[in-house]
Amino acid sequence: MNHRLEKLRAQMKQQGLEALFITRAPNRQYITGFTGSAGVVLVTATQAILVVDTRYTIQAKEQAPDWEVIQFQRHNELIPTLNKACQRAGITQLAFEAEGLTFAEYQYFQRGCQGIEWIPTHRIVESLRAIKDDQELTTLRQAALIADQAFEKILAEVRPGLTERQIAARLEFFLRDLGASSSSFEMIVASGVRSALPHGVASDKVLEKGDLVTFDFGALYQGYVSDVTRTIVLGKPSAKQKEIYEIVLEAQLKGIAAVRPAIPAKEVDLAARNHIEHKGYGPYFGHSTGHGIGLEVHEAPSVTTRSEEMLTPGMVITVEPGIYLPGFGGVRIEDDLLVTDSGAEVLTHCRKDFIVID
Ligand code: GLY
Ligand code: MN
Ligand code: MN
Repeated sequence: MNHRLEKLRAQMKQQGLEALFITRAPNRQYITGFTGSAGVVLVTATQAILVVDTRYTIQAKEQAPDWEVIQFQRHNELIPTLNKACQRAGITQLAFEAEGLTFAEYQYFQRGCQGIEWIPTHRIVESLRAIKDDQELTTLRQAALIADQAFEKILAEVRPGLTERQIAARLEFFLRDLGASSSSFEMIVASGVRSALPHGVASDKVLEKGDLVTFDFGALYQGYVSDVTRTIVLGKPSAKQKEIYEIVLEAQLKGIAAVRPAIPAKEVDLAARNHIEHKGYGPYFGHSTGHGIGLEVHEAPSVTTRSEEMLTPGMVITVEPGIYLPGFGGVRIEDDLLVTDSGAEVLTHCRKDFIVID
């Protein structure tokens, strides 16, 4: 983990920050290795402190051996503990994660830590997390593989008469059976007209012959996620269903082909979007083309029409265009990709021909 801390300290130095207070859970995990659900982190040029409550002291010491682990007893002891740590480190200014505190939490810490100037910062650890190291890539590959295998298994079970919720439950079972700790987010299984809802989470709707069915799912594996979407059809597809499937697939392939280092992420969005617009379905593709994945399902970089973020080797992003026709149905296809030195490597491999289930 130490190379992560070194990179963070270099960033802090560059931004003139003497101390950073980390409260966002994925950032805490990334920088310390500690996976517990609560705790705060204080980093200075010379100190690396992880403050946890008594539930987590043993775990924190095991998972973050290079860190000074300080335990506090009850919630109201956090402030004195923090004050003491700041005094010991000689800190007068404390940078905090503006996205990592509620307003009430900010007031609580600020009032409690007398004599400290609080400085808001934005996404410092997140920007480091955007570039994955080898250990993270190994984990992300496995998360992708589990999703691929689970999809293969659910295909053997999908049939008219089951509800979306039943399908989601089986898919969740397969993900966990294959080694995931859980689904990486609330699963989307959206059938028939519901497939026009880009985020139609599984409902009690019964799958029927003729339905398009969109699955958007992924594995949470050792803290890292995969995020995959496939759309299938139950029975012989109509001409319109075929048409939109082919357009989305072509758009997705164009998006994937555009991925390479040293281009702004918007170029990937535009490569996919232009194809859908050219075919006349632009108004039916309302969301962005993709996003980074890692410890979170949505993280840097964003792959949107305006994103100037530069694609860089080691970034892992999704490419997921879709077309959604209200009252008819929709199609989305999503894969996870690693940006490499020469282009991209697709991490998810499940089939994406238009799968017909009779
Ligand atoms: N499953 C959420 C997304 O694809 O962004
Ligand atoms: Mn998804
Ligand atoms: Mn996604």
